Amino acid sequence: MRTPLIVGNWKMNKTASEAAAFIRDLLERLTPSPKADVVLAPPFTSLESAGKALGPSSWISLGAQNLHWDPQGSFTGEVSASMLRELGCRYVIVGHSERRLLFGERDETIQKKVRAALAQGLAPIICVGESLAEREADKTKSAVTTQLNGGLAGLTQQDLVTVTIAYEPVWAIGTGRAATTEQAVAVHRSIRSFMETGWNSTTAAAMRILYGGSVTPQNAESLLASEAIDGALVGGACLNPDSFARIVRIAQTRRA
Ligand code: PGA
Repeated sequence: MRTPLIVGNWKMNKTASEAAAFIRDLLERLTPSPKADVVLAPPFTSLESAGKALGPSSWISLGAQNLHWDPQGSFTGEVSASMLRELGCRYVIVGHSERRLLFGERDETIQKKVRAALAQGLAPIICVGESLAEREADKTKSAVTTQLNGGLAGLTQQDLVTVTIAYEPVWAIGTGRAATTEQAVAVHRSIRSFMETGWNSTTAAAMRILYGGSVTPQNAESLLASEAIDGALVGGACLNPDSFARIVRIAQTRRA
């Protein structure tokens, strides 16, 4: 059985001191539980204070929002996998649609980032999702498949053990217009069958596939009730400790 995973993607929000205050507040609202994994992904500059606020063996893990694929070098403004590891990160988001659309990330670089993360023992959360134009042109499946092919090319079954896929339709991100559970489930099923064809049924069955795009405490219940949806990548609603805690609690109480 796949343990649900809730990831809070803070994007470019919360300074180091705001991060520490938020985490102190969040921890008071939540009870640790093995029934769901939780990851917070603050901006690079808040990772250290977030790690300190969580404490050394916290049940909540730290993740980064991006990384560079080289171990070090002349890459002004970039951060490597080993730098993230040393700050206590266990996860890293790769290929978020904002990185693809606003910063020109392509599947080839996303794949290099995934490999760099895996080489340093960071668990990549690879984001895929169609634009509104692609959905309206009935090209959702082909858009997602292209991204999966690009991002996952050459990975072994062993590599995929720690990989998570986040299905995030671009039209649902930050719009307040989440995919319906049915829409999400249909794409999640096609992602799992892509994994089965490209690798095997064991790999496909073990892989966590998250939904992201306007997840709120109101719609999380329905989304997470489906066995096809293994958790959520939460943007806007993760910035408020009350709404993020409510989403985590829904995951913790699901599938008794
Ligand atoms: P949202 O963002 O929850 O604000 O739609 C999700 C994401 O971008 O990961």
